[in-house]
Amino acid sequence: MSTVEAPDKARARIRERTLRTDNWRVYPITTLVIFTAWVVYATVRAFWGAAFYVPEYHYLTPFYSPCLNEICNNVTVNGVTGDAGEFGTFLPSWTRGWIPFAALSLPFLLLFRLTCYYYRKAYYRSYWASPPACAVAEPHKKYTGERRFPLIGQNLHRYFWMAAFVISLINTYDAVRAFHGKDGGFGIGLGSIILLANVILLWGYTLSCHSCRHIVGGRLKNFSKHPFRYRMWGWVSKLNERHGQYALITLGSLVVADLYVALVASETISDLRFFN
Ligand code: FES
Repeated sequence: MSTVEAPDKARARIRERTLRTDNWRVYPITTLVIFTAWVVYATVRAFWGAAFYVPEYHYLTPFYSPCLNEICNNVTVNGVTGDAGEFGTFLPSWTRGWIPFAALSLPFLLLFRLTCYYYRKAYYRSYWASPPACAVAEPHKKYTGERRFPLIGQNLHRYFWMAAFVISLINTYDAVRAFHGKDGGFGIGLGSIILLANVILLWGYTLSCHSCRHIVGGRLKNFSKHPFRYRMWGWVSKLNERHGQYALITLGSLVVADLYVALVASETISDLRFFN
């Protein structure tokens, strides 16, 4: 039987951990499993150092973009040789396996997602049980919020967003490049469509960010004098309603894009071609 004691100045004193009767553990456990599996996959792939580029169709996995290792050039798959190092290759080949080929973009993307409002909620609940769910007491005695190191670093999110914006532009360039035909010129394969869909979803995630909404429409005294920003703020606000969904869907789309490129680049499967 639940026992609610006299209200305290801080919190209601409830002996039970929670009065919730629904299955509130499903969310944190599912999140923990999905995130852990994703981090393992992404870490393995980022350090793999192989099966990242298909020269024939210019397919570059987003986990290796921009590709900065010497190995990114002169990649041969199915007898076709080409370069993936479009933005320079200053990492020597001996760093393979130690430093990801996308050494400049991956740390920012990781920090961008780690400091994202949606992911914060998700991993605070599932990894730290802080709290594990709404109206469920957390095991920690003290709550210091995000005012101290290291969590004060969450405030840098807006700067990681700026980096992510630039990286999304690079991913867009990669997706456009992926419409390359066998005989040169224009071509469409399943890989082109997967990379394009992934980059559209990545834009959905990046532009629906809470910091983006503030950058676009914040710090204004009134909207009437800034109709363009008001309109953009309206668009971003619409996207923002689904930010959590974009955050999750892009985890899946990144894996699908990477896995498909890896399978074609390792000559395990052939690309399904629709045109040229
Ligand atoms: Fe999620 Fe900014 S709040 S990316």
